[in-house]
Amino acid sequence: MKRTHTCGELGSDYLGKDVCLQGWVRFSRDHGGILFFDLADAHGITQIVYDPEDVDVGSDRSTLEATLDEFSRESVVSVCGSVRKRVPGTEDGRNPTGEVEVLVQSAEVLSRSKAPPFEIGEQKEHLLPAEDTRLRYRYLDLRRAEMIRTLRFRHRLISLARQFAESKGFLEVETPLLTRSTPEGARDFLVPSRVHPGSFYALPQSPQLFKQMLMVASVDRYFQLARCFRDEDSRADRQPEFTQLDMEMSFVDQEDILETVEGMMSHIWKGLFDEELQTPFPRLRYQEAMARYGTDSPDLRFGLPMVEVTEIVREAPYDIFQRVLSKKGSAICGLNVTASMGAGDLGRNEVDRLITWVKKHGMGGMTWMRMTTEGLESNIVKYFTSEVQEGLVAAMDAAPGDLLLFLAGPKARVLEAGGLLREKLAEDLGLIEEGMHQFLWIVDCPMFEKDPVSGKLTAFHHPFVRPVGDLDDCSIGESYDLCLNGVELGSGSLRNHDVDLQRRILSMLGLSDERMEADFGFFLEALGYGAPPHGGIALGVDRMVSMMLGKESIREVIAFPKNKRMHSPFDGSPTMVDDEKLNELQIISLAMDDIDLDDLE
Ligand code: AMO
Repeated sequence: MKRTHTCGELGSDYLGKDVCLQGWVRFSRDHGGILFFDLADAHGITQIVYDPEDVDVGSDRSTLEATLDEFSRESVVSVCGSVRKRVPGTEDGRNPTGEVEVLVQSAEVLSRSKAPPFEIGEQKEHLLPAEDTRLRYRYLDLRRAEMIRTLRFRHRLISLARQFAESKGFLEVETPLLTRSTPEGARDFLVPSRVHPGSFYALPQSPQLFKQMLMVASVDRYFQLARCFRDEDSRADRQPEFTQLDMEMSFVDQEDILETVEGMMSHIWKGLFDEELQTPFPRLRYQEAMARYGTDSPDLRFGLPMVEVTEIVREAPYDIFQRVLSKKGSAICGLNVTASMGAGDLGRNEVDRLITWVKKHGMGGMTWMRMTTEGLESNIVKYFTSEVQEGLVAAMDAAPGDLLLFLAGPKARVLEAGGLLREKLAEDLGLIEEGMHQFLWIVDCPMFEKDPVSGKLTAFHHPFVRPVGDLDDCSIGESYDLCLNGVELGSGSLRNHDVDLQRRILSMLGLSDERMEADFGFFLEALGYGAPPHGGIALGVDRMVSMMLGKESIREVIAFPKNKRMHSPFDGSPTMVDDEKLNELQIISLAMDDIDLDDLE
């Protein structure tokens, strides 16, 4: 009884043919002695019918009936029979095999299933069991057609990326997973060495240094579907282990890299959606993104930029603004909700609700004005001279029917809250067109960030970014981030092929010569043997897939993800391990009963 077709294959072309199908029994029903089964596999669902009147199986009838009796839900079975048209009126237009059914003549149970803990069907997301239950029985959850579609989409995206990379001469090279621990931003996952007791490998946070060393090795164009590990808290768009589409190129400038990524994204998009992407993608300088949208990954599917009006209103005798502006580093920013966006729908009550909302996001309150044919209106416009009012109208490009909202406070907080308010308004007013997508490059990101408390410099991206111009008066790096619909998909930069420049940057980041040698000596040594000018990028595959499919979390697009608490309900990891294993690694067991405090002293 070998399978002749999949469960997604049969249609009216097959009428009268004898076939054998194998798959999982999804649903069964008994209509007065006529038995119906939905047989499912990764390709689809086919209706199987047993009709005692229509089947001529002679003396085997009782064996067949006994076997069909054992067709419990999710058991794996094999059925052979002939394809026939369904009774008119019972066709299922939503199912590609919905016109036909297989009249069963022989059957076999290949593997019995216990009663599944949840229904495996096409149910809406809110009807699914709790996420931990889905993850605990992930092999059942993955049987759902939606999950199979997602796995297939992900596979297709990866193979299109590979296809493109190959066509452009990229070499796929695997880099080690057992590496040296280097300070890279997040915490490392460490792996103890048995052979070298007390020493640890680190799982790579990214293949950054290896891909740069591949450039020194003259590889020229590298790419890899790289597994990366970061010991950081799990979030909707973060997992402790994830996959990057990692690339590096030699003898290129920033334009070459951006163009290559745009080419790759266009190839992927065309292959997945049969649509041409508009290239080049728009670009926005980091500083401008922060000033206008309050975030380094703005969603540009809608407008509503922030406008700073601090200087326009500085002298106005409006008490709230005056109090805020008396403090250094304060700012006042406005958002113009235009009439065409639906400002008219935001009445007094809605504005009050927005005020309560901004208060929850770190603001003391929110000031608002409406633009009418007579000019600005609100109970506070009296504090603003007509000159100031004209200044506001011009700066915010206000027209009759528009609603102007103002936030005042410490600048960083205003920008952050304004950015969030912008997103909330887009959602409330339905400003984002269904199915719309917007790629965006953020360019000219800062080289360094200063810790506000310690004043210590840290690398904005990582320490290997090449500065724009001279390091001494440099504030920005040759770096870029790719965003889609307000989410950062990837990040990259040109690198330092000059070893002395690289040393100076590490030293500005506070690494002593000894520390530099200890942590990065091997890498600096490589740069000293003829490093070509090079640069690259890494795109987050999980984020790309989840954004393109409109999923809430990247856990939906990873076959076996960790849950929100960094735990794997599927295999129960992480787990305690036997003392025997710990002894082998010469690691002291953490179980308190095992610790002899005298020994520790
Ligand atoms: P970066 O750290 O910005 O850059 O990472 C690049 C992209 O990887 C994805 N990503 C993640 N996805 C899921 N879970 C995580 N915890 C996670 N962390 C990062 C994001 C991100 O944009 N070596 C540099 C790249 C380079 O300079 O070439 C790097 O790793 O989509």
